[in-house]
This record gives sequence, C-alpha cells and structure tokens, in this order.
Amino acid sequence: MAKSRHTSSKFIPDRGPARYFHGRKKILRNFNELLQYASEKTWGTIFLIQGAPGAGKSALLHECEKLAERSGWTTSRIHAPALWDLDELRQSLDLRRKLNVEGGAAKIAIPGIAEAGVSAELPPQTVKGLLQKGKAPLLLILDEAQVLGTTNKPSGEQAKIASNVLDVVHNGTLGRPVVLIAGGLGTTLKSFEELGISRFAEDCFVELGALSRKSERAVIQDWLNKEGRAKGDPTAWIEAIAKETQGWPRHVQSYSKRAADYLEARDGTMTVNGLRAVLKAGQKGRAVYYKQRVDRFRGDQIRCLAMSMAGVPQGKPAEFKEIMSLLVNEYGESKAKELFDRFIEKGLLEESGIGYAVPIPSMHTWLTEEYASEKIEFQPDSQSDRISNKLNRGMER
Ligand SMILES: Nc1ncnc2c1ncn2[C@@H]1O[C@H](COP(=O)(O)OP(=O)(O)OP(=O)(O)O)[C@@H](O)[C@H]1O
Ligand SMILES: [Mg+2]
Repeated sequence: MAKSRHTSSKFIPDRGPARYFHGRKKILRNFNELLQYASEKTWGTIFLIQGAPGAGKSALLHECEKLAERSGWTTSRIHAPALWDLDELRQSLDLRRKLNVEGGAAKIAIPGIAEAGVSAELPPQTVKGLLQKGKAPLLLILDEAQVLGTTNKPSGEQAKIASNVLDVVHNGTLGRPVVLIAGGLGTTLKSFEELGISRFAEDCFVELGALSRKSERAVIQDWLNKEGRAKGDPTAWIEAIAKETQGWPRHVQSYSKRAADYLEARDGTMTVNGLRAVLKAGQKGRAVYYKQRVDRFRGDQIRCLAMSMAGVPQGKPAEFKEIMSLLVNEYGESKAKELFDRFIEKGLLEESGIGYAVPIPSMHTWLTEEYASEKIEFQPDSQSDRISNKLNRGMER
C-alpha cells in the first residue's frame, strides 16, 4: 500500500516490533528447528533471549511469534505471574482463544450439561493442568522476564509452583508441545536459576548483542529508501549513520527514523547539511536515552560507576574487584553490592570477558565524558584511591 506523503514516522516507538527487521538469522533458524522438533516429538522446552536494553529482544520475540503462528502453533503472551497464578494464565490463554474464535462459530459450554460438542469436564485446577489441556502446540511468550528476579519475584508457595511449572515446561514433560520463549535483561538467566532452571541447550540460550555490519546497513537502507524515499545513492548516509549506531538496534532505529523523516519532508533529496542535521538530532536523542537510564540513580552513584570505567577503553570490561573497590570505598560492603546489582539489573553494566562492561560502546563514552570528565591515568597500585579522591571532590561540588 502506498504511504501518504505527509505521514511522519516520529510517533513510531523506539521499542518493540521492528518495521524493517534484518539479521538474527541463526537464532531464528534454531528457534524454527526447535518448533518443528517439539511438535513432532510432543515435547517442549524454554528458549531464553537475554540482552541489554535496546538490543532487540522484544523485536526478536515478535519475529519468533510470527514463525510459530506460521507453523500452526497457538501463541500466547504471558506475564510472569501466569507461571504460578491460574487465573492469570487462564486470562492470557482465553484472550488468545477469544481472538481465534472471533466471528466464528464458538460453542458455549454449560457446566454440568453433557451434550454433543459440549464438555462436562471440570476445568483444570492448576497452572500445570491448564497447560496440559489441549493438544495444539503452544508457544508462551514472556517479555521483560527479568522481573521474575525483581518486581515480580514469586514468594513462598508461588515460587514452588513456578519452579514446578518451569521444570515441566523445560523438560518437555507436559504431554503436549509447549515452548516458553522468554526475553529479558542481563539478570534473567540468574532469575531462572533461582527457580531451579539452570541448564539450557546451547541453541536455546541467546546472549543478544549488536547487529552484524550487514544487517545494520540493511535496516538503515530500508528506512532511507522505503520510508524516506531517498533519491540517489544512500551509501554515504548509511555509512555515516552506522558509524554512530555501532549495530545497536535501538540506535539504528532511532537515527534511521530521523533520517527517513528528514528525507521524506524534502522529497528524498540527500545533502551534506541534511546528513549533518540528522546526525546531530540522533546524538541528542541518544544522550536523552542514556540520561533516562541513569536517572534512576543518584548523581554520586553514577559518578562512582563512571569513575570506575574511566580508565577502561571504550566497550571493554573492568574487573569486578576494580568496580567494587570504588563502590565499597564509598558506600560500604553491603550497599555497594546492592548498587552493583542494580547497575546490572538496569542495564548499565553487563558481564563481559574478564569482568563487566557498559553494554554499548557509545554509552561508555557518554557516561565517562558526562560523569568522569577528568582524565584518569592508569597506575595499578593506587588507581582506586586516586579515583576515590576525585570522586569525593566531585561530590563536594
Ligand atoms: N533485527 C532488527 N532489525 C531491525 N530493527 C530492529 C531489530 N531489532 C530491534 N530493532 C528495533 O530496535 C528497537 C529496539 O529493539 P527492542 O525494543 O526489541 O529492544 P529490547 O532489547 O526489547 O529493549 P528493552 O530492553 O528496552 O525492552 C526497536 O524499535 C526495534 O524495532
Ligand atoms: Mg523490550
């Protein structure tokens, strides 16, 4: 369908399903194979996608959902409590069923009356029972799954039920093909471990990172050509944008959208000044995004993190003890550990190589420039002390 000349893409959000999805081919291939295998063998398991904010988890979940629907699976979006709360699960599944029968000839079941086509069976009384009911392959989709370890952490009895449910899903013992696909921040695996799920098949656990060079360029090109109707060769624009976005889906989307809007308003004409304006707007948007991320912390806490990363090359990890020694110095052992966990939970740090890194290289740069602007020279013996002194001075300002 032709797009109207004056629609703007500025209201398309920077999160969720992608307008122009590219890449992630191997993950999608593995997931598709899993679906085929599970439906043939009446089996199932958990497929986990973990990654920093903006890595593209939700967009990927959406692509997986489409794959499953195309293969005839019933799909259902669930929230964490559906793993232990029967009503919650029933609602998620019923919602789906209602959509399926909409406009069709749905039969109404009257409890206790057994006639042709009407079941007199008692409804399932447990989460596990409800999942076992039916034969059709079922895909459960749980986004923001890190909440299982934080805001939606099951307690006591709930945790017992959730562990049991996850166990039967993970081991495929429900007697029906059921796959749970979960996406969440870097602490999600840990949350599943706490509920007793620790071993994932190699192809069922994904640490989602940047897009490949090729996929990133394909996304930008689609935005410029299809959305912005660029006239002429967009290579220079693609290269300049990719240099800024470094394969990071959220940035790719945000910069490309700005470029497309700019071009669309100017009949697709690409100029040097135009590109400059687009990059500037993109950088501004990126800084706002990073600022929102750190706004959940106090300035001194962020400064402390920034100081610990200041001597580290962009995108590279700092050792756990280096970061911790600064935090402990400032806040004491237990507060420091809490703060460190929150940095991970909110996607300001992620496990990487020998230690922990800021997930996006451009965020590393932004963080250190913004909060640790004094240059710190590396001297192994006294680094923590000196950084700490600077931090104290910074806090007095
Ligand atoms: N492979 C891709 N191709 C094109 N666009 C993508 C791709 N992956 C993600 N995007 C786009 O990038 C943006 C960020 O992706 P998404 O919202 O899926 O990230 P996320 O990891 O779920 O982030 P959050 O942790 O904030 O929920 C979205 O607008 C999405 O449509
Ligand atoms: Mg998301």
